[in-house]
Amino acid sequence: MSRHFAAITYTESVKAAQRQYNGRELQLAAAPDAKVELSARETEYIAARDSFYLATVSETGWPHVQHRGGPRGFLKVLGPDTLGFADCNGNRQYLSIGNLRHDNRVAMILMDYPNRRRLKLLGHVRVIDVAEASPELVAKVMQPSKELPAERILLITVVAFDWNCSQYITPRYTESELQSRGISPNPTNVP
Ligand SMILES: Cc1cc2nc3c(=O)[nH]c(=O)nc-3n(C[C@H](O)[C@H](O)[C@H](O)COP(=O)(O)O)c2cc1C
Repeated sequence: MSRHFAAITYTESVKAAQRQYNGRELQLAAAPDAKVELSARETEYIAARDSFYLATVSETGWPHVQHRGGPRGFLKVLGPDTLGFADCNGNRQYLSIGNLRHDNRVAMILMDYPNRRRLKLLGHVRVIDVAEASPELVAKVMQPSKELPAERILLITVVAFDWNCSQYITPRYTESELQSRGISPNPTNVP
């Protein structure tokens, strides 16, 4: 686990559980003062994703996880520690957006099922209404093909990330991933 990630997630309760079940606390080197920087590895991985899971926390303390999907690369790397994506009104429930008004912290999981990889991120979100965003920012995050216009832009300042092990990730493939491997996703085409 990365030092930034452990510094945030190894709380007293987590350390107590480690002592109880593991016999000792996992070693936690001091977190570096420097801000997190996404490397080329994370940047390329994020650019290739067509979905992610976004967890927020409500003012009643309940976590809430939402699935977000879009065209490949809709989650943009906008800087060394900054991600962004456009948000439309969708189902009009505004669970994530409402929660972010109370607490701007998020946890994200980005899955790569075919290659059995996953990247976890922790960050702080700034919600910017499209009408108040700079044209440059709007141009960077907009999805031109979207049937609904975006209402907001979510800017995520990443404070920690961690690559999980691949164990227990079952390979799964989208239709286009099957097609790129020369496999027809339509079983009626199988001889
Ligand atoms: C018309 C319509 C369009 C939607 N578009 C998307 C979308 O592009 N991506 C997505 O993950 N969910 C989409 N959804 C599903 C949810 O509405 C969307 O995830 C929503 O923004 C959830 O926000 P919340 O977590 O703040 O409640 C759409 C829903 C509707 C009804």
